[in-house]
Amino acid sequence: MSSIASINNPTGTRISQERVLVLDFGSQYSQLIARRVREQNVYCEIVRHDISPERIREHSARGLILSGGPSSVYESGSPQCDPGIFELGIPVLGICYGMQLACDALGGEVRNTPSREYGRARCRIKSPNELFDGLPEETDVWMSHGDQVAQVSSNFIPLAETDTCPIAAVRHCDLPVFGLQFHPEVTHTDLGKQVLRNFLVRICECNGTWKLGDFANETIESIRQQVGSSRVICGLSGGVDSSVVAALLYKAIGSQLTCILVDNGLLRQNEAETVIEEFTNHFETDLHVVDAEEIFLERLAGIEDPQEKRTLIGHAFIDCFQAEAAKVEDARFLAQGTLYPDVIESGAAPDGPAATIKTHHNVGGLPDELGFHLIEPLRDLFKDEVRQLGLELGLPEELVWRHPFPGPGLAVRCLGAVSKDRLETLRHADNIVVSEIKNAGLYQKTSQAFAVLLPVQSVGVMGDARTYENAAVIRCVDTDDFMTADWSRLPYDLLAKISTRIINEVKGVNRVGYDISTKPPATIEWE
Ligand code: XMP
Repeated sequence: MSSIASINNPTGTRISQERVLVLDFGSQYSQLIARRVREQNVYCEIVRHDISPERIREHSARGLILSGGPSSVYESGSPQCDPGIFELGIPVLGICYGMQLACDALGGEVRNTPSREYGRARCRIKSPNELFDGLPEETDVWMSHGDQVAQVSSNFIPLAETDTCPIAAVRHCDLPVFGLQFHPEVTHTDLGKQVLRNFLVRICECNGTWKLGDFANETIESIRQQVGSSRVICGLSGGVDSSVVAALLYKAIGSQLTCILVDNGLLRQNEAETVIEEFTNHFETDLHVVDAEEIFLERLAGIEDPQEKRTLIGHAFIDCFQAEAAKVEDARFLAQGTLYPDVIESGAAPDGPAATIKTHHNVGGLPDELGFHLIEPLRDLFKDEVRQLGLELGLPEELVWRHPFPGPGLAVRCLGAVSKDRLETLRHADNIVVSEIKNAGLYQKTSQAFAVLLPVQSVGVMGDARTYENAAVIRCVDTDDFMTADWSRLPYDLLAKISTRIINEVKGVNRVGYDISTKPPATIEWE
């Protein structure tokens, strides 16, 4: 079994020799491209657009994919790649901006076209090529561009066209360089999967042998080596990421694992109890539960500003965690459920794309000063891969499919000042939202569903009496990556049932709204 440090995780334990790199030029789809490649069982990482040819060679990449991006290749300051990457002999697939860049570097002219193309287009294959093996002559593709390649030199062969884009795909005559103006990674490109597969298997000659099962075995083995006989602490939140980390660690080191669950009083209904039950049923771990509700609520009293709430919660969490961790003897390692998107977004990967830091997602993270060595076994995985891994490790479906829950918990859904009573009202309403969506069989079809309690009162009538009580909102979204999201088109009957139940059963709520905002410009959470 071989183990190579991944490009983005030099200290980690990595794996697959068959790897493809996505050079990121700022596309919203870069992560999607990487996921699509991994779906073909080829290990894939996202790296900076200006990665050097030497670095690529060092990591023996089988193929390179140049992502799309919002810039124009002819603008000064637009992100460029090192032209040396085209001389490595490694197959290159440029997508949208990536294609324009490859053509620009190797003899083509890119222009801003009068007919920008956004959305579905009919693509006609003009010249048969292994990239299009198995495709019919005409197929629907997804376009999203203002610029396009207007002309190519005789070094390139145009492969396909649409009504408004005469050069919708190209290949270089001598070098293994290909370009697609459309996006094969989005599901609206009917046969995009096949095109990517052709690139990976026929052109890059990948065997597609990367499997999550191998990942688990290799990770378990490497954790054993790294930890030796020391003790590892793992913070549990009840979410899928920390549970999968705990499961991996348990398989690797069994009784050397201590889990700490900080019950901050901001958890959902029965959440702490469920986590404790699930964990004690599945693992015989040393589980410490810190009852910290009082500390959190005291510090939060009267605080209305969302950022201030987050900061206070972050600090309180660190204090509680640290105090409990200090009671664990011989603990040298701390395991965290950092995922690949977090690594990418925080700019923590040495070769990763430029940073866009989502500070709020770091709340609940633990500072270096705690003095632990970090173990982050999921830092190369996407959320859906983590879920798959959780199932392979035998975690219950109920836990694996749980919707994400933010570190600051119900505090960012209880708008305005947080109090025990208001949290109780929200908890009750939230439980109705989630359980009715589960009853309707829609929980796994939606990405995140919850209730929000507003600091607003409105007039109502109950029985014969006038009421003046709180308004609550149902938020339910569909999303692939949580960076963009659409509101779920829940059936009216289901919304009616949830609303009736909340108004009848939750004391203090007399009005229910449904949030129909997309992200952007709204966010998923209300604070
Ligand atoms: P937004 O609200 O930014 O949320 O659209 C995107 C995803 O991130 C979660 N989220 C958080 N997670 N700490 C977290 O650990 C936070 O402070 C935080 N804020 C938002 C949110 O639930 C959604 O899944």
